Amino acid sequence: MEYISVTGPWITQKEIDYVADAAEKAWYANANMYNERFEGAFAKYLGVKYAVSLPSCTAAIHLSLMALGVGPGDEVIVPDITWIASAAPISYVGATPVFADVDRKTWCLAADSFGKCISSRTKAVIPVDLYGNLPDWNAILGIAEKNHIAVVEDAAEAVGSVYRGRKAGCFGDTGTFSFHGSKTLTTGEGGMLVTDRKEIYDRVLILRDHGRQPGDVMFFNKEIACKYKMSSLQAALGLAQLERIEELLARKIQIFKWYEQELQGLAELQLNYEAPQTKNTYWMVTVILDAKFGIKKEKLMNLMEERKIACRPFFFPLSLIPAYQHHAGAKIAQSRNTVSYSISPYGVNLPSGMDMDEAKVKYVCGVLKDIILNSGTRLIPSR
Ligand SMILES: Cc1ncc(COP(=O)(O)O)c(C=O)c1O
Repeated sequence: MEYISVTGPWITQKEIDYVADAAEKAWYANANMYNERFEGAFAKYLGVKYAVSLPSCTAAIHLSLMALGVGPGDEVIVPDITWIASAAPISYVGATPVFADVDRKTWCLAADSFGKCISSRTKAVIPVDLYGNLPDWNAILGIAEKNHIAVVEDAAEAVGSVYRGRKAGCFGDTGTFSFHGSKTLTTGEGGMLVTDRKEIYDRVLILRDHGRQPGDVMFFNKEIACKYKMSSLQAALGLAQLERIEELLARKIQIFKWYEQELQGLAELQLNYEAPQTKNTYWMVTVILDAKFGIKKEKLMNLMEERKIACRPFFFPLSLIPAYQHHAGAKIAQSRNTVSYSISPYGVNLPSGMDMDEAKVKYVCGVLKDIILNSGTRLIPSR
């Protein structure tokens, strides 16, 4: 078996043609043609009013916080389990991240923990649709509304996921997406900010262009801001991918189903959860091993790598990693966030790239079961 990568995109002739077309034509008066088409198509796909193409999801979260006026003295609640990009922009604007616990099934922000983390300084919350899973949006939005807390949805990993008929990215004051090369829909590097709020959209357009007002042809900047733009070549790639979105999502779901089939009946393995009335698009098929096997993620990753299978660790709690562990509030999070701390050591993302086929999934699952059986603990079939 060849080396199996953990993730990667599905690029066809369509993407190559669109990028070549952009390289040839998207200059002079047409410089923005692919950005405009990509933004328009993305807004239509989600059913939102405005979409702004950006260089990354990190930029989208940063601009969201800036546009919402979050700054020094404010607290922003973020789940403890996520990529650092969900939290770093809180520090960029001088606010303080507060790490809340996650739900045991969805691995996303737990509504009750969110409620408990609210203080008089809480200005915003950044729920994350982790690995394509979805949190209990109704409960989270109810708490946010009651407490006048702005919501920035980090849907970096969840393009196409659906909660009660609404697509991921539509739940907050802003929604943010990543099109990094590992993502289901890719532009190589890239991101999108979406919103229904005109004043946020208008503010984001200024903030992402060095503080230039719309129509400022004199380059007479009124404030110091950011330079966050997506190139037309990336937008062309994104548009082609978006036109194939149903095919891309179907492949992700198929890959998950193959894993589910191979691993079904093993009660001690927890896979991504699809709650009733949701559609999970399974960006990364993820498995949490029962602690009783005594196989932590580092060991599992090494053993899989020996058999030419790349895995990634389930995210470490942010309150544990060196970047944040001495941060205000990290100590409390370490003892409060019992779910995060109990599942994170035993989780890995299994290979979920678009190049996965049934044979590769069977091989990965065979190796995984082998490793567990050799741990000396018997796998118990579930009833
Ligand atoms: C949950 C989450 N949030 C934010 C980001 C940041 O995305 P980007 O790399 O496009 O800045 C990522 C990227 O992997 C992510 O997984």
